Amino acid sequence: MTAPARVEDVWPAGEPRFVAVGRLSRIRMFTRRDVDRWLAWPRHADPLYAAYNPRPMSGSTADAWWDDLRHRQKQRAFAIESLDRRMIGRIFLRHVSTTDGASVLGIDLDPSLLGLGYGTDALRAFLGYYFGPGGFRRMYLSVAAYNVRARRSYERCGFRYLGTHWDRLLCRDDVLDDPRCAEARPLLRRGPRGLEALTYDMVLDREAFPTASLVQAETQTTSGRTESFLRLRDRCVRSRRRRISV
Ligand SMILES: CC(C)(COP(=O)(O)OP(=O)(O)OC[C@H]1O[C@@H](n2cnc3c(N)ncnc32)[C@H](O)[C@@H]1OP(=O)(O)O)[C@@H](O)C(=O)NCCC(=O)NCCS
Repeated sequence: MTAPARVEDVWPAGEPRFVAVGRLSRIRMFTRRDVDRWLAWPRHADPLYAAYNPRPMSGSTADAWWDDLRHRQKQRAFAIESLDRRMIGRIFLRHVSTTDGASVLGIDLDPSLLGLGYGTDALRAFLGYYFGPGGFRRMYLSVAAYNVRARRSYERCGFRYLGTHWDRLLCRDDVLDDPRCAEARPLLRRGPRGLEALTYDMVLDREAFPTASLVQAETQTTSGRTESFLRLRDRCVRSRRRRISV
């Protein structure tokens, strides 16, 4: 099969790199400046989400973090923007396999904006790119069983459950006794690797991605409300050629 296109390889440098547009959000390439925006987000108050809080980083540590993510880990990173152009979320594709056309999803939002519909909107729009111009065929993810909001969002996008495992939970050891975590307590344990959370593995195949979402993406494209990745790219290339030929 054709290797999934890397947006950064085909997109003219310096152009806005939106790959998808939803009802509440749009998705573009993540940049080094987005690392600083992410570091400025408020912190999660819920101890079960502490792992999503960035550790404080100086400029050079942030440079190194960004380089490591892209070059050693080879993750593909995208930023979620609200329609008023705030960087409100991050999407990561990990373990990208061009042979299988698959990757593992990571997503998180600014903690002050949870439960407002941005996550599902952004993910659905992103999947239209991923399974469309992105050329991928399958997406995997893992989600803690207690993370009902995320699970619901994935279910809404068409993901199905594959299996379960216990995964290391990166948060303070005393969550097991924290009354705020009482509901999640049966889904947590002290296991061989320390604190662990029951975790679901989920998958979404291109064929199972709701046709309605693909149709909607196309409708948006032809109606002019938004444009597909390929059309945007072509338009950027044309305008660049015009500028060069002037
Ligand atoms: C996971 C995440 C991206 C989801 O995005 P979001 O914008 O917060 O979620 P949405 O508002 O789209 O809501 C998704 C669903 O959860 C429901 N929901 C919202 N808040 C909820 C809550 N506190 N408990 C249970 N369900 C909730 C919504 O009603 C919606 O379901 P519906 O479509 O049936 O109405 C976001 O919550 C997040 O970044 N969480 C922290 C990091 C994280 O957990 N990442 C995922 C790791 S696998």
